[in-house]
Amino acid sequence: MKILITGGAGYIGSIVSEYCIQAGDEVVVYDNLSTGHRESVHDDALFVRGDVGDRELAAATMKQQSIDAVIHMAGFIEAGESMRDPGRYFRNNTCRPLELLEAMVDAGVHRILFSSTAAVYGNPQTEILREDHPLNPTNAYGESKLQFERLLDWYERIYDIRHAALRYFNAAGATAARGEDHRPESHLIPLVLQTALGQRRSVTIFGTDYPTGDGTCIRDYVHVVDLAQAHIKALGSLVDQSLHYNLGNGRGYSVREVIDAARRVTGIDVAVEEAPRRPGDAAVLVAGAGRIAADLGWKPEHPTLEAIIASAWQWHRENPQGYG
Ligand SMILES: NC(=O)c1ccc[n+]([C@@H]2O[C@H](COP(=O)([O-])OP(=O)(O)OC[C@H]3O[C@@H](n4cnc5c(N)ncnc54)[C@H](O)[C@@H]3O)[C@@H](O)[C@H]2O)c1
Repeated sequence: MKILITGGAGYIGSIVSEYCIQAGDEVVVYDNLSTGHRESVHDDALFVRGDVGDRELAAATMKQQSIDAVIHMAGFIEAGESMRDPGRYFRNNTCRPLELLEAMVDAGVHRILFSSTAAVYGNPQTEILREDHPLNPTNAYGESKLQFERLLDWYERIYDIRHAALRYFNAAGATAARGEDHRPESHLIPLVLQTALGQRRSVTIFGTDYPTGDGTCIRDYVHVVDLAQAHIKALGSLVDQSLHYNLGNGRGYSVREVIDAARRVTGIDVAVEEAPRRPGDAAVLVAGAGRIAADLGWKPEHPTLEAIIASAWQWHRENPQGYG
């Protein structure tokens, strides 16, 4: 299969590209490099520098390259920033990707996987979030992703474009060659590892009075390699139906548990600082990922926190400046 991966120069996109190539697919990475890294793009992928909002370039690329399916991973990802500058998020995560859908119509491409997020659910009404949980995002980031999910429904109904919206929980970990290098970094595991490397003085825990065992927030971390495998399975199943799947481990770890696991993996006593809660942070977010297990037989092969952190640690130690 020949796949166009938007955002393929980003953290998750570069690793999904790596696994698609390993599985025998041909990959075209389509990325404007606004937050991605050219160095992370696999040597066997064709790289096109372009914006998902550039309908002409996207359609021409799909036609010239005889693309069979799109994996749309491009987007902005900071929930906090989306509440200060919502227009930036609706423009980049909803409006520009609409042009990508139009380009698919122009080029006659009928399959798309979309990187959605647990943020589409909003405040959890149950500890385990299943796909049938109400959709009430509490930030503009989550809403911008939900709006695109809704566009996908209409493009299926009208143009017969099949889609899977994959709602990731917290992606983490690395492969030997590719890892997480967001700038600025806001994700817990790389922040802890940068502290272990001496690049930060300490790691901040936001809120120690949540109604959880140790008072810190609980999140579901899923290995980026497991995410990549889920994309490969979902692509293969898109022929007959459109799908919505949570991608998580189904088990949560508190911020303190993550920091303790990182101390064990690195052997370094990472310093912490405690700070008040951040507005909008839910106490517990854990995926119910039973649907994709039942439908596609996907289950995480690297579920332990130690394995996830160890892979990230290896990449951070070998690439202390990230992609440079
Ligand atoms: N990192 C996570 O834990 C997580 C969780 C849930 C969902 N997601 C979703 O997964 C996707 C990838 O996340 P990531 O962590 O790899 O982020 P990332 O910032 O590393 O990658 C995003 C990529 O998209 C590119 N991009 C952004 N806007 C573009 C545009 N208009 N045109 C072309 N390219 C553009 C960037 O240059 C970058 O390479 C995002 O859509 C994000 O919302 C990520």
